[in-house]
Amino acid sequence: MNGVGHLYVHLPFCAHRCGYCDFVTAVGRLEQHAAYVDALLRELDEERHVLSDDVETVFLGGGTPTFTALHELVRLLEALPAAEEVTVEANPETVTPELTRALRAAGVTRVSLGAQSFQPQLLRVLERGAQPDDVRRAFAQLRDAGFDNLSLDLIYGIPGQSVADLEADLAAALALEPEHLSCYELEAKPGTRFTVHHGDELARQAEAMEDYFERVVAVLTDAGYRWYETANFCRGDRRALHNLGYWLGRDYLGIGMGAVSTIGGERRRNTTKLARYLGGRYDREIEPLDEGTRARERLMLGLRLDGPLPIAGLEHALDPAGLARVEQLGLAERADDTLTLTERGRYLGGAVTATLLR
Ligand SMILES: C[S@@+](CC[C@H](N)C(=O)[O-])C[C@H]1O[C@@H](n2cnc3c(N)ncnc32)[C@H](O)[C@@H]1O
Ligand code: SF4
Repeated sequence: MNGVGHLYVHLPFCAHRCGYCDFVTAVGRLEQHAAYVDALLRELDEERHVLSDDVETVFLGGGTPTFTALHELVRLLEALPAAEEVTVEANPETVTPELTRALRAAGVTRVSLGAQSFQPQLLRVLERGAQPDDVRRAFAQLRDAGFDNLSLDLIYGIPGQSVADLEADLAAALALEPEHLSCYELEAKPGTRFTVHHGDELARQAEAMEDYFERVVAVLTDAGYRWYETANFCRGDRRALHNLGYWLGRDYLGIGMGAVSTIGGERRRNTTKLARYLGGRYDREIEPLDEGTRARERLMLGLRLDGPLPIAGLEHALDPAGLARVEQLGLAERADDTLTLTERGRYLGGAVTATLLR
């Protein structure tokens, strides 16, 4: 393909900043949504030459893209290139029939809904704005509008969450029959309110999280979902094509405040300051990616996926002693020119990859 086939668009606005979140966000700022969309369209115009004529995927992430003033969100969507998959992240409390219809009409093919949990007390710990019924209502409204590719985000390891709570969350999510599920272990992000208040508790429960993760995988695979990436599950082949692009090490263009791009051996990140971005100042941090870094990333990301990873050309990033050790422990299998993590290896994930890399 000529040009970059994946476009990420960052929409930073949220109604409230959840204590555990360290994404690039801005609370409220309704009066700046139009100027922000103008700034995005300007950046897109400047960068359009790097995109392929046939963009494969577009992903609007946040922040809360669906908190953006609706006519501004629609103006943006209408100016973006068409693609096979156009995903928008949505928070349940922002979903209305008007929004779902507008997203459909503007070419959105997939919505990723941030449920996180279905239990009021756990949603409270996360400081979420939605109640369990808001998640169900939002989901039904998206289906009513004709969306046949819906994903739910869940978080596990929320302080106070028992195994029974986790199972109840998984059951509630499965009852909605989403095409895709992302299940993340709650991470204590440095510097967040949540880490200040609950950091010690998260550290104490770290060991129990291995069991929680295995539970998540067992319940979802028993329900017929494919565990196609460490934290992601799908029915049939409804993988998230945009994210698959990242995991396969493809180049992508990211526009917006704080957005990251990886293009032709270089990674760059836009300013995280709203006023600078609105003024057309990107203040890009540029990181050159040498062969070794790209090969290590290719292995780290590629081994998150199910199935064998072709390793031709990546051998120099593998540590032969580490490889022998993980093979001996039954955590990975090497064939001629592929490497595959076993099920046990996939549970241990990052620790296995760290041993494998030079
Ligand atoms: C860009 S974020 C937020 C999307 C949307 N604004 C929301 O809150 O639902 C995408 C997902 O990352 C996950 N996430 C955010 N912060 C996290 C953390 N500290 N630990 C684990 N998962 C996190 C949540 O599941 C969230 O839905
Ligand atoms: S978790 Fe979502 S809604 Fe909460 S602050 Fe982060 S991006 Fe915004």
